[in-house]
Amino acid sequence: MQATVSVALLLSLLSVAAAAMDPAEREALLRVMEAVSSDRDWRSSDPCAAPWPGLECKPDPSSSAARLMHVTRLDFGVPPNPSCKPTAAFPSHAFSALPHLQSLFLQLSVRSNPSLSGTLPPQLASLRSLQVLTIAQNPLVRGEVPRAIGELQSLVHLDLSYNSLTGPVPARLGELKSLAGLDLSYNSFSGPIPRELGGLARLQKLDLSSNNLTGSVPASLSGLKSLTFLALSNNGLSGRLPAGLSRLQDLQYLIMENNPMGVPLPPELGAIARLQEVRLANSGYSGSIPETFGQLASLTTLSLQNNNLTGRIPAGLSRLKRMYHLNLSKNGLDGAVPFDGAFLRRLGRNLDLSGNPGLCVDDDRAVVKDVGVGSCRGNGNGGGKDDDTSAAAVVRATRGDVARSKSDAVCSALLRPSASVLLCCLLL
Ligand SMILES: *[C@@H]1O[C@H](CO)[C@@H](O)[C@H](O)[C@H]1NC(C)=O
Ligand SMILES: *[C@@H]1O[C@H](CO)[C@@H](O)[C@H](O)[C@H]1NC(C)=O
Ligand SMILES: *[C@@H]1O[C@H](CO)[C@@H](O)[C@H](O)[C@H]1NC(C)=O
Repeated sequence: MQATVSVALLLSLLSVAAAAMDPAEREALLRVMEAVSSDRDWRSSDPCAAPWPGLECKPDPSSSAARLMHVTRLDFGVPPNPSCKPTAAFPSHAFSALPHLQSLFLQLSVRSNPSLSGTLPPQLASLRSLQVLTIAQNPLVRGEVPRAIGELQSLVHLDLSYNSLTGPVPARLGELKSLAGLDLSYNSFSGPIPRELGGLARLQKLDLSSNNLTGSVPASLSGLKSLTFLALSNNGLSGRLPAGLSRLQDLQYLIMENNPMGVPLPPELGAIARLQEVRLANSGYSGSIPETFGQLASLTTLSLQNNNLTGRIPAGLSRLKRMYHLNLSKNGLDGAVPFDGAFLRRLGRNLDLSGNPGLCVDDDRAVVKDVGVGSCRGNGNGGGKDDDTSAAAVVRATRGDVARSKSDAVCSALLRPSASVLLCCLLL
């Protein structure tokens, strides 16, 4: 009995001791909370003794006896974490007094969060322990990214997507050597992709899509040796893709639609064996589809619609066993379609060759009547001009939407990390 009570007493003493915080750090935390959220009276409890959702405290690794606690993670916006109040602003100076912060999330939750507004404070740079910084989906967060961001040397994940940031992509991001994920998508960044980004040897995911970036893709990006996901869609990028991109041997997703590229497709892409999804639609690509694309054994999706591609469809594409979505519509392709019945049946509505008046299918094939395709010999005009009878109608696009939304779901899961993805990132 006596022993039990002592143990209980000891435990409660320990837990009180466990909540000890440096007064300056505690005050800084409360000022951050008060600047961002009015969900409760933050001063009414002892933060690290009973942390609220979104707050994480960890004991100081160097203080054994005192068990001093530090704030290591702050997460706002997505329930059950504190929501941002209507007048929420970056509590700039307070951040510099949270030296042990490893993760900071400030996300607009569309349902419950009025908004966070302002520019990114240069004081963020003092968070030297920060590994994860997410300031995403806050349309009122605007202005330029402070150059001092290059000082966040511990950063592993940086997500500034879906804000209203402008100005250049800071070249100093290239100094963040631990970075594994960089997402600046859906902002208004302009100017070129800085060549310095090529030094991020640990980067796995780079998403710069839906900005106003111009110039060509820098050759230095072939130094991103760990890259698995590259998204540059919806920008003003132009010119040749660097041949060295074929050194990105881990690359699985190359998503680069809607850019005024206006060049031939690079045959070197065929050497990236792990590529699963290649989306290069709407980009003014000319010339023929490189034969080397027939070596992409992992390819599941190839979107090349709405370009200026000419010549034959490489026969090698028909041997890609994993392919399930192929869109070559609205180009100037011609000649006989190289796909056999098995391929046509497997892709079904996920194959779109429409809008290529010069394409046709050989008469001899059993599939011709099944899919209602015009014959190469039949009307003697290499496929015919009428969309309804020619090979231009090999497969109707009417039900393509199903496949597209499925594949978009995969893509958007990668483009717009959910809270659970972010949690995974934290565990890395
Ligand atoms: C992109 O740049 C153009 C020209 O400078 C400008 O008119 C347009 O508003 C910009 N778009 C965005 C989303 O910032
Ligand atoms: C395709 O080529 C035609 C003629 O060569 C040109 O007028 C047109 O602008 C090109 N389209 C694209 C999207 O580059
Ligand atoms: C192919 O692309 C065109 C043009 O963007 C689109 O209308 C069509 O639905 C797509 N088809 C498939 C099967 O994805």
